[in-house]
Formats: sequence, structure tokens, C-alpha cells
Amino acid sequence: MIRLAAVQMEPRFGDVAANLRKARELITSVKADLFVLPELFNTGYLFRDRQETASFAEPFPEGETPGFILDLSAQTGAVIVGGFAERSRDGRIFNSAVMADQGRLLGCYRKIHLFDREKQWFDPADRPARVLESSAGRLGPMICFDWIFPETARALALSGAQILVHAANLVMPYCQDAMITRCLENGVFAVTANRIGTDQRQSGSITFTGRSQITGRRGERLAQASLDREEVIIAEIHPALADDKMVNRANHLLRDRRPAFYGHL
Ligand code: ACM
Repeated sequence: MIRLAAVQMEPRFGDVAANLRKARELITSVKADLFVLPELFNTGYLFRDRQETASFAEPFPEGETPGFILDLSAQTGAVIVGGFAERSRDGRIFNSAVMADQGRLLGCYRKIHLFDREKQWFDPADRPARVLESSAGRLGPMICFDWIFPETARALALSGAQILVHAANLVMPYCQDAMITRCLENGVFAVTANRIGTDQRQSGSITFTGRSQITGRRGERLAQASLDREEVIIAEIHPALADDKMVNRANHLLRDRRPAFYGHL
């Protein structure tokens, strides 16, 4: 049995030190084997333009935020996943999530499906998502809007993911319900860690929808957070149950697919 945790928080735009402090406080307040923090938890979301995004971007793995995640994973003996703006060696900027396990870096996922103005602030991923072996199970990384493309979760399930680790800054109300279907149709667990609050900038404002959610492999809502409070929600699961893809005696979620009829996907 392992304990999954979604860390729901309200980042203060641009105050990286305060945001890292808050993330540490929330994570060290409970015991779990895997913690997922929101997308861009260290900086906030509503950048003015690409130049401002670049000013907050950090290299992987040398940057302050990857180092913070790594140290915290060593301190807690857990897997920790958190979103940050990543600057690559050739100067591109990605909306990324760093993953570390008990003091070992697992990797860095670059968001594949950029949402709305993110297309101005970031470069889209230049590589597929990889499933990562960890002490809490096989992890499939996703960031926020990746949820609306069912191919994302399907590809991760086909690669053996047991738990979707989903760092989010959701602004539409549909994702939490959609994750029920993503989990059901792929037989996987998911930890969707959303943020709360409003990023208020001169250029406008954007409000996030909370209700972080841990979803079971049969589409059960195992835990759900509030709309407007910083909190950590927990669910206990057996990751190996995600390896059983039988729906009934006759049907297997992956083997019963008929790709010959939808090869254009
Ligand atoms: C989103 O992808 N942050 C909505």
C-alpha cells in the first residue's frame, strides 16, 4: 500500500522563495510516498510575456527548483513532482515538471500541449513523455492541459504507467471529471494537483479552480480538495492493481483495441 498526495497551494506570483517555503511546509506536514505539486508552483502562472517567463526559467538539473525538489525528496524519503519554467541549454523555455525519488533525480517532463497564451511564453515539448520507475510505482507525467488529449494518458498507459502524476493550473471546470474517464479507460491511478487563487497582473487576471483530485483505476474519486484552500489530500492505493487491465472476463483495455480501424490517430 502506498500513500499518494496532491499538494494544493496558492503560489504568490514571482516570489519563488515564499513559494518554495510554502511547498516545503505543506509537504512536511503529512506523511506520503508520493507528492505532486501544481504546475509552475514556484513562480505562479500569468507571465507578462516571453521575456518575463525567461527571467524565471531555470536549468535542469542545476536550477534552484530542481535542487529543492531533489533535497525535499531526500528529506522526506518520498517521490516529489513539481512544475517549473525550464531553460534548456540552447535557450528554449519549456513548461516542465521535475521528478525526484528519495534523493535521486528521475527526470524532467516537458509539457506537450500548451494552453492558450502559454504558446507565447513557452516552447512546446521536443520529446515524448517517458514512464519513470520509482519507489512509489511506474509514473506517467502530465501537465495540466495534457488532460484534454486522451492520447496523452493512453500513450503513458501503453508504456506501462501505473500512476499519472498530473501537475496542473486548471482554469476550466472539466478536467476533474475528465480524469475519471482517463483513469477508467486506461486502468491507471492519477494524482491531479491543482492550484487555487488568482494571478492579478497589470495585463489582466486569471483564477484557478482548485479541487485537486486523486482518481482510482476504476474511475473512483478517491480524494478531492476544496475550491479555495491550501491543503494536502491523500489516498492509499496498491499501484500493482493498475497492471490488471481486464474489465471483465472477456475484455482487456489495451489488447482489445483495434488500431487497424483508427490508425490515422
Ligand atoms: C493549463 O494547461 N495550465 C490550463
